[in-house]
Amino acid sequence: MGSNILFNLMLIALCLLPFGHSLEMGETCSPSSKCDAGLSCQSCPANGNTESTCTRIQPLNPTSKVNGLPFNKYSWLTTHNSYAITGANSATGSILLSPKNQEDSITNQLKNGVRGIMLDTYDFQNDIWLCHSTGGTCFNFTAFQPAANALKEINDFLESNLSEIVTIILEDYVKSPNGLTKVFKASGLSKFQLPLSRMPKDGKDWPTVDDMVKQNQRLVVFTSKKDKEASEGFAYQWNYMVENQYGNEGLKDGSCSSRSESSPLDTKSRSLVFQNYFETNPNTTQVCADNSSPLIEMMRTCHGAAGKRWPNFIAVDFYQRSDGGGAAEAVDEANGRVTCGCDSLAYCKSNAPFGTCDAPPPKSSPSPVTGQTSKRDPTNLPVGNAGSTAIGLSSLILISAATLLLW
Ligand SMILES: *[C@@H]1O[C@H](CO)[C@@H](O)[C@H](O)[C@H]1NC(C)=O
Ligand SMILES: *[C@@H]1O[C@H](CO)[C@@H](O)[C@H](O)[C@H]1NC(C)=O
Ligand SMILES: *[C@@H]1O[C@H](CO)[C@@H](O)[C@H](O)[C@H]1NC(C)=O
Repeated sequence: MGSNILFNLMLIALCLLPFGHSLEMGETCSPSSKCDAGLSCQSCPANGNTESTCTRIQPLNPTSKVNGLPFNKYSWLTTHNSYAITGANSATGSILLSPKNQEDSITNQLKNGVRGIMLDTYDFQNDIWLCHSTGGTCFNFTAFQPAANALKEINDFLESNLSEIVTIILEDYVKSPNGLTKVFKASGLSKFQLPLSRMPKDGKDWPTVDDMVKQNQRLVVFTSKKDKEASEGFAYQWNYMVENQYGNEGLKDGSCSSRSESSPLDTKSRSLVFQNYFETNPNTTQVCADNSSPLIEMMRTCHGAAGKRWPNFIAVDFYQRSDGGGAAEAVDEANGRVTCGCDSLAYCKSNAPFGTCDAPPPKSSPSPVTGQTSKRDPTNLPVGNAGSTAIGLSSLILISAATLLLW
């Protein structure tokens, strides 16, 4: 009887061991080997990387090294068409013909550090729906779901994460009077909205992030409809930000120009800078290449075009896809340069003078960003490392089993 229990304990311990080991950024992986938290196992044949490696899907928390700066001094990972998710069905029951731009739920995007959510809002079936359509009219076969569903996901996140700030950018086709107001109220989100009166129109600094947290004004909402600012108090996007061209036009090497609705990128009376970087037609094969070095190159080009300003929002399709560091690395670079004067937020020291940086890891390191002085510095991991817990547990069982044996 007793030795049976011992034997079982040993077996459990042995089974736990292989799962306890998880892989670092850049290491070769397979469906049976687990990457560290914040990484996913993927390849990028479009870049010639046919072998699967652990790839970053989470940026560092922008405020983790230097907190308390104005909102416009941080860069936020943003998902283009956040609601258009692979495998989604139309809540009308119809087939859904609209393209898909992301792969996981808004809840999961938020969990992975996405802080800019882009939604297309339409009047539809006596309600406000998320829809990707044409001519401003939603059809059953272009309708995703009622907007309130997605807004509730954001509300739940803000309610359970009291120091997080989220921005919603609406491509807004809603004409019904107070349509947006109603749906933001119904989802619970209006209580978090930063009021218009706190948004600077003259290029001045925004409220600081710690003040936004203290006042519980942790939601910033922009609409593409100019008249909503006067009628409902929703900020008209291009009164506050400049934005580059989206789609294929915005991917052209070496040039970064403004989209037609935006003032020129170097307009300093707009204190926010929004960078789009995605194809006109989302392409799951090509996107991992787009979200890699070309994205960072374009970010640097746009920095020049925007009067030496780094983007506050970096909007991509399939934000988890890249050949290594991806959109997470771009966001870390922008945050490092703005908040601490380092090449990446990963090299910034907490609460140190501007420009005090840790040395980047040696070139031979497989990790361009996660490495600091020590490659496994736990402060670099976006969330707790479940792998080491499993190792701890299995060694504990092994030790207990050995102790019992000695008895
Ligand atoms: C669209 O879907 C609704 C159900 O949400 C259905 O009642 C209606 O008949 C559909 N319209 C068309 C044109 O198929
Ligand atoms: C958000 O809250 C959940 C639930 O409390 C927690 O597990 C998660 O780590 C929090 N995320 C962030 C980014 O604070
Ligand atoms: C998607 O990208 C791949 C790889 O770059 C390319 O071969 C393919 O033609 C693209 N598909 C479309 C529909 O553009």
